[in-house]
Amino acid sequence: MQVGRKSCWRQLQASFFRLLCLIPTGFPVRSVDMQRATDNITIRQGDTAIIRCYVDDKVSKVAWLNRSNIIFAGQDKWSLDPRVDLVTKGQLEYSLRIQKVDVYDEGSYTCSIQTKQQPKTSQVYLIVQVPANIYKVSEDITVNEGSNVTLSCLASGRPDPAITWRLLNPSAEPLDGEEYLDIIGIMRNQAGRYECKASNDVATPDVKYVNVVVNYPPTIKKTQSSETLVGRMGTLQCDATAVPTPEFEWYRDEKRLSNAQGINIQILGTTTILMIANVTEEDYGNYTCVASNRLGVQNASLFLYRPGTGRDINGVACVSQSLWLLLASFACLFFKC
Ligand SMILES: *[C@@H]1O[C@H](CO)[C@@H](O)[C@H](O)[C@H]1NC(C)=O
Ligand SMILES: *[C@@H]1O[C@H](CO)[C@@H](O)[C@H](O)[C@H]1NC(C)=O
Ligand SMILES: *[C@@H]1O[C@H](CO)[C@@H](O)[C@H](O)[C@H]1NC(C)=O
Ligand SMILES: *[C@@H]1O[C@H](CO)[C@@H](O)[C@H](O)[C@H]1NC(C)=O
Ligand SMILES: *[C@@H]1O[C@H](CO)[C@@H](O)[C@H](O)[C@H]1NC(C)=O
Ligand SMILES: *[C@@H]1O[C@H](CO)[C@@H](O)[C@H](O)[C@H]1NC(C)=O
Repeated sequence: MQVGRKSCWRQLQASFFRLLCLIPTGFPVRSVDMQRATDNITIRQGDTAIIRCYVDDKVSKVAWLNRSNIIFAGQDKWSLDPRVDLVTKGQLEYSLRIQKVDVYDEGSYTCSIQTKQQPKTSQVYLIVQVPANIYKVSEDITVNEGSNVTLSCLASGRPDPAITWRLLNPSAEPLDGEEYLDIIGIMRNQAGRYECKASNDVATPDVKYVNVVVNYPPTIKKTQSSETLVGRMGTLQCDATAVPTPEFEWYRDEKRLSNAQGINIQILGTTTILMIANVTEEDYGNYTCVASNRLGVQNASLFLYRPGTGRDINGVACVSQSLWLLLASFACLFFKC
């Protein structure tokens, strides 16, 4: 009887302690060993966060809290979020794992521990970072010289991305602008490819481009008169800069010239060449080159001289070699040499 009672008591005692051990934590209790209080953990959106909490055998109860919500009490999951679970290594670790972290997970997480003496808590602040992403950028534009232009580049990210602009010309210096780049009275040399870069050091910066075309009226920047013997081919040349590409016309005094017998007009982009196949006495004199686009028109006078008049025939020194080659091949085609 005595023996029976004693063994029964022992059994009861044993199962009571087992219960005590099992119910709160599910594994033997240990005392706290956690990260420093109010540590920050930085994690990128979409990654898996493991918020560590280490325990030892003096701990009796453990829980994870998110703000004022209980996520886990011991092994008992209160959170309904399927992305959340526990990482337990042996019986020493009681860490919280959150998969596919999102921005709304940012905040403080508390590992709450009860030892025999007193409760302890340790807080970790989870910071969720998001790579910079340009979600809106200006479309390519065409404007007239002198216009005011505003380019926009809107980006998201955590922390807020810094936005910088460059014009991808050879110097590619940074421009003064953020989300909005203001260009007051745009000049032709400010045309080109603009780069907008959003960076926040989370991932490689996001980059987008805007092409800006600046229209301006023609300027005839170079003319080439000619001194040609009777019977030879005379050529007159005129170069203009303009956007859009200019249209050219040639005049002899008031009369418009066109491709006809003995006359050939070539237009190569921003250059035009008037070729007179077989110069006669009547061909000597004053010619006009007219360059126009929808923003304006400019004329220049050129001369076909009789040799020996000793004039300075060139508006500008010389015609480039490649142009002469082109010219020669056109002349050959046209005059069937
Ligand atoms: C945690 O981040 C906050 C800003 O979110 C900062 O003020 C604080 O100093 C950081 N704490 C540590 C320990 O890095
Ligand atoms: C933390 O709490 C917020 C609301 O308080 C909730 O939106 C978020 O999903 C929680 N995060 C986790 C990992 O439970
Ligand atoms: C361009 O901006 C300047 C300065 O803000 C202003 O004075 C000017 O009137 C604007 N020009 C046009 C065409 O809007
Ligand atoms: C040029 O014109 C003259 C007079 O019309 C003619 O005699 C000569 O044969 C021509 N030369 C060529 C190369 O066509
Ligand atoms: C040449 O012709 C243009 C247009 O017809 C005229 O304006 C200019 O004065 C002329 N130049 C000479 C030297 O005759
Ligand atoms: C030269 O330009 C003026 C306007 O600037 C125009 O009136 C004139 O007709 C042009 N001359 C020729 C030959 O086209």
